[in-house]
Amino acid sequence: MNKVGSVDFFDGNKRKMYFFVENENIVEEEGFYKVETDDKIFYIFVTNLEERPIDSDIGSRVNREDFAYDLGERYILYAQASVLLEYRKKNNTKVIGYKTIPRHGNSVYELEDIDFEKDRLGLPRLDFAHVRSGSQKLDTKVGFKKDSYITHWLLSGWTCSGKTNAAKVLLGVTIKGDENGSFAGGVIIDPHGEYYEGLKVLNSASQTKVVHLTINPDRSDKNAQSLSIPLALLTPNDLCEVRNFNPETQKPFMWRCRSYFWKVQKGEVSDDTQILSRSKNWVEMIINEDPDKFLPKLGSDYGDSAGRKVMDAVKRRLRSIIKDDDLIWGREYTPILKEIKEGVARGLWYVIDVSSISNNTAKLITSLIANELFKDYKGMCINNKAEWKKYKPAGILVEEAHNYLSSEEASKGNIIAKIAKEGRKFKVFTIVVEQDPSGIDERVLKQIHNKITLQLIPKDARALCDTTPYIGELEKKIPYYEPGEGVFVSTGSFNFALPVKFPMMKDWVASNAGKCVKCKKNPVVDAGLCSECGKNQKAKDAEAFM
Ligand SMILES: Nc1ncnc2c1ncn2[C@@H]1O[C@H](COP(=O)(O)OP(=O)(O)O)[C@@H](O)[C@H]1O
Ligand SMILES: [Mg+2]
Repeated sequence: MNKVGSVDFFDGNKRKMYFFVENENIVEEEGFYKVETDDKIFYIFVTNLEERPIDSDIGSRVNREDFAYDLGERYILYAQASVLLEYRKKNNTKVIGYKTIPRHGNSVYELEDIDFEKDRLGLPRLDFAHVRSGSQKLDTKVGFKKDSYITHWLLSGWTCSGKTNAAKVLLGVTIKGDENGSFAGGVIIDPHGEYYEGLKVLNSASQTKVVHLTINPDRSDKNAQSLSIPLALLTPNDLCEVRNFNPETQKPFMWRCRSYFWKVQKGEVSDDTQILSRSKNWVEMIINEDPDKFLPKLGSDYGDSAGRKVMDAVKRRLRSIIKDDDLIWGREYTPILKEIKEGVARGLWYVIDVSSISNNTAKLITSLIANELFKDYKGMCINNKAEWKKYKPAGILVEEAHNYLSSEEASKGNIIAKIAKEGRKFKVFTIVVEQDPSGIDERVLKQIHNKITLQLIPKDARALCDTTPYIGELEKKIPYYEPGEGVFVSTGSFNFALPVKFPMMKDWVASNAGKCVKCKKNPVVDAGLCSECGKNQKAKDAEAFM
């Protein structure tokens, strides 16, 4: 054990311990250390370091023999720390915080690997992030408890602080999972088209874990599909998320048309003007039909000129929504949402690349998928608990999350906000990636129990610290973090704020993947062929067959 200092005193009022630093090269602010005596260990966290004159009253208490000072040295390094945990060796018990206190003269040591074990600091072991002690990245890696997922995630940090990379590592850990498969399934709304590239290595020739839905899929990748959403799946509620439809007139009109279209399709009303030959879904029907002929079919409510105004306005709005991203909208029905729901329940992740579509359409797609997932999980939980128990938790990752979670959006009843507030009962969670956490609704922030905070500007660091337990002392440090450095609070997993350093995704892959058995070059996370070799194998099989 490496001795780094000795205790001066414990201030009960401030709940702070002060110690003389004897090894300046090791002790840093935001560092973890321990005070060890014969029967106890106190785990401490340094919150402040400063030089104090030796001539002062502090100087009179220091035991000079402990210091390798030059003659004439006038200052000593003096540290202030919080006690995180008291561990009693004799009966192997621990107290979060402390019941007794460290004493003057007790030695302060650097941590060892064993200190992170279950009985002691008890940090869950997963290859997620390195524990950081000050600026030093320790070899010890920590994660979180498997059931933390349902209490949501917030990954916040300034531009280029390493959010997207950390999100990929989180997804890597989630998808790799354990002997029971992935920890959760979900959907990633990817505004810059950057997630699949990092995650596709989790697919092997024999197993799909991540599916890429994009406008221009790589045709040779069997896990890439074209992103096409059937118009028939849209409900008036989804459309209201992106355009202001009048809730008194236009929205009920859309509902009426939607159910009318169903009746026509089921043959419950006669299709004497051949609606079905012109339109394959209710949205197209509104756009294509001539109000003079169509409105009387809906009954007397819409028979007057007001009805016509409503229909014209709805037509215009629908056309403008669709024309933005014509490529996305499929005229034919495909069971894409059903596929996503079933995949997510089994632990698959879907990267929805919305980088080349408009913000409105991206929002619409997000709303559509999130609504379906939430409805399905909630319905299952209520109606078929046994089946629901088999479902993996379902996550929805959104970047630039203020678009969904600002106070304004949250009070409008945005579905992502709704999931953030109510999802945990049904195992639906959000992963919120955000530059500016002060722009997120406070009630939403309070529901988020896993917070990864990378570098933030001071104003945002303050806002975040106000709504996060344990973290207050770090408010002044957060603005100075390097890329990938952060602090992790997971209230279901451990009881303090843990400084961490994330690996780059490619390094995480290197330490979690083996090599493909065939090319011996490409990484694969489960044993077997990489998808590249799987692809070649398939082509060869096809050739042999011809
Ligand atoms: N864990 C890390 N360690 C070292 N550098 C990192 C780390 N994470 C990110 N970076 C650097 O920061 C850049 C931006 O990372 P990114 O995850 O895209 O940030 P953000 O999403 O916050 O804008 C990366 O290209 C990389 O150079
Ligand atoms: Mg990013």
